[in-house]
Amino acid sequence: MAEVKLDFLGDLRRTHSCGQLRSADAGQTVTLMGWVHRRRDLGGVIFIHLRDRDGITQLVFDESKNAEAHRRAQDLSSEFVAAVRGVVTLRTPETINPNIATGDVEVAVDKLWILNESRTPPFPLEDNVDVKEDVRLKYRYIDLRRPRMQRNIIMRSRIALAIRQAFYAQGFLEIETPFMTRSTPEGARDYLVPSRVQPGSFYALPQSPQIFKQLLMVSGYERYFQIVRCFRDEDLRADRQPEFTQIDLEMSFPQEEQVYEVVEKLMLDICEAAGKPIAGPIPRITYAQAMRRYGTDKPDLRIPPFHCVEDLFPNAGLTTEGLPLVAIHIPSTGPLSRKERDEIKAFGTERGLRVLDDLKRLERDFAEPLRKVRERVNPAENDLLVLAGWAGEKKGELPEHTVLQACGQLRMFIAQKYNDRHKLLDAEILRFLWVVEFPMFEWDSEENRWSAAHHPFTSVHDEDLEKLTTDPAHCRAKSYDLVLNGIELGSGSIRIHRRDVQSKVFAALGFSEEEAKRRFGFLLEALEYGAPPHGGMALGLDRLVMLIAGEQSIREVIPFPKTAKGTDLMCDAPSPVPERQLRELGIRLVEPK
Ligand code: AMO
Repeated sequence: MAEVKLDFLGDLRRTHSCGQLRSADAGQTVTLMGWVHRRRDLGGVIFIHLRDRDGITQLVFDESKNAEAHRRAQDLSSEFVAAVRGVVTLRTPETINPNIATGDVEVAVDKLWILNESRTPPFPLEDNVDVKEDVRLKYRYIDLRRPRMQRNIIMRSRIALAIRQAFYAQGFLEIETPFMTRSTPEGARDYLVPSRVQPGSFYALPQSPQIFKQLLMVSGYERYFQIVRCFRDEDLRADRQPEFTQIDLEMSFPQEEQVYEVVEKLMLDICEAAGKPIAGPIPRITYAQAMRRYGTDKPDLRIPPFHCVEDLFPNAGLTTEGLPLVAIHIPSTGPLSRKERDEIKAFGTERGLRVLDDLKRLERDFAEPLRKVRERVNPAENDLLVLAGWAGEKKGELPEHTVLQACGQLRMFIAQKYNDRHKLLDAEILRFLWVVEFPMFEWDSEENRWSAAHHPFTSVHDEDLEKLTTDPAHCRAKSYDLVLNGIELGSGSIRIHRRDVQSKVFAALGFSEEEAKRRFGFLLEALEYGAPPHGGMALGLDRLVMLIAGEQSIREVIPFPKTAKGTDLMCDAPSPVPERQLRELGIRLVEPK
């Protein structure tokens, strides 16, 4: 870096932020501090855009008025840190900048302090520059200066405040739970922390505070919440990080309805605080309905549902007998080319579907049923309507589920492919949905046993209690998900509060009593000491902020995220540790299996 004389901050104080000054402030002497965002040198006059987190103000260094300040301004470069004192002046009408909030004024500088210099940043600090993500993540502290990132991180902070306010207003207490603990029951792999003082023993970082929040209900705290970091060693995607943040809540004596009320109020307050107000009530469908109408338990309501129409085509051979025939309707795609139709068919075929896109040809044999399909679906002139049935044999544990799921994927494939035409997948639109009455168990074909669809502490529907051992496939759980724009935002349940019921559920899951005791013994014991009925849920804060900010990845709303391989490129973590440190922990490294 070139030698630049630096000044001390001394007792200098800023009087205003860089986003604050307006025409009414003209004539005032102000002190601003920030970073040099842009510099324009016209010889006798130098214009600097000074930036802080609040905005940008134009500074003017005029040689004819203040030669010393002008001379020093020549040393300023991009991202230097500076303080200035000067007088707010009105801009002439032709120089007003409508793109910045302070655009009516500028500051005529009479003194400049250069507080720090900067190397040339690895990329320009503009929103629309094409920078590789690994460069952004390596220099995250610079990336975080970009206006878009600042907007996201500031919005995240505002949302966190709104969450706390909404919970306090509804009688919740914020209570912390441990990070160094035992394995928790969310089904991912644990991150382990070795104990030095107890060689060979490990803490697990919590996948969620599930057990602790239930224990807090046993302890009588009645309404708990926490904005809490959780840790899961699982395959990463755009909406998954190894450490992420949950908005976690638990209530004593709740009806499911009361959990919905609390969370709905929370969502309304959050969206309001983020400047994207939504209207309640949030619609609700059962898991079974979601599968029959969207082929997924995370329906995106911005696209219309599909329709099961096998009843209109009895014995027509368009789908495997006894399996659904689905009419998929995507608005405003306009006519599709042969190639586009073939792509849709190929996507369906890969998933076992038989896609019937040539409705004119079908019309010959099935005029009346097709008329009824159109009546049911009601497509407009420019909409796409295709039928999809199952091409193969009827086999497997839940074949209907497989067909519906494939149709759901096809629906979203088409919707995403032609979004530039219908523009329905608009990030500005927030469509929340409750999905309720999930099944209690899922068949785990690898392990050849039932596993908990939510987690093993979830209550079964009162009417289905008897089916726990006789008919697990048809047990409904008192569990629910909150979905936003096709993404699972949160899930929860009414919990089991009775020891005898918990034992039955563990038995249905194939846990022996010993194994249940070994893993969750302290919770089971706690249930024997006056555990109240309780329930709650957890919402992914990162996903919520991502969707509200209109971003495609949670990495855009997490200050210091990890890559898809779980690496922090900036700190270079994870990293090997010195042999001495391993020895102290009694750890010897071997090749992983
Ligand atoms: P669940 O496992 O469904 O439920 O998690 C709740 C929500 O947390 C978010 N989430 C994630 N976000 C980013 N990265 C991840 N790796 C990740 N994993 C989960 C999702 C998800 O919906 N204890 C239960 C809740 C309860 O029953 O109260 C639980 O953790 O948005």
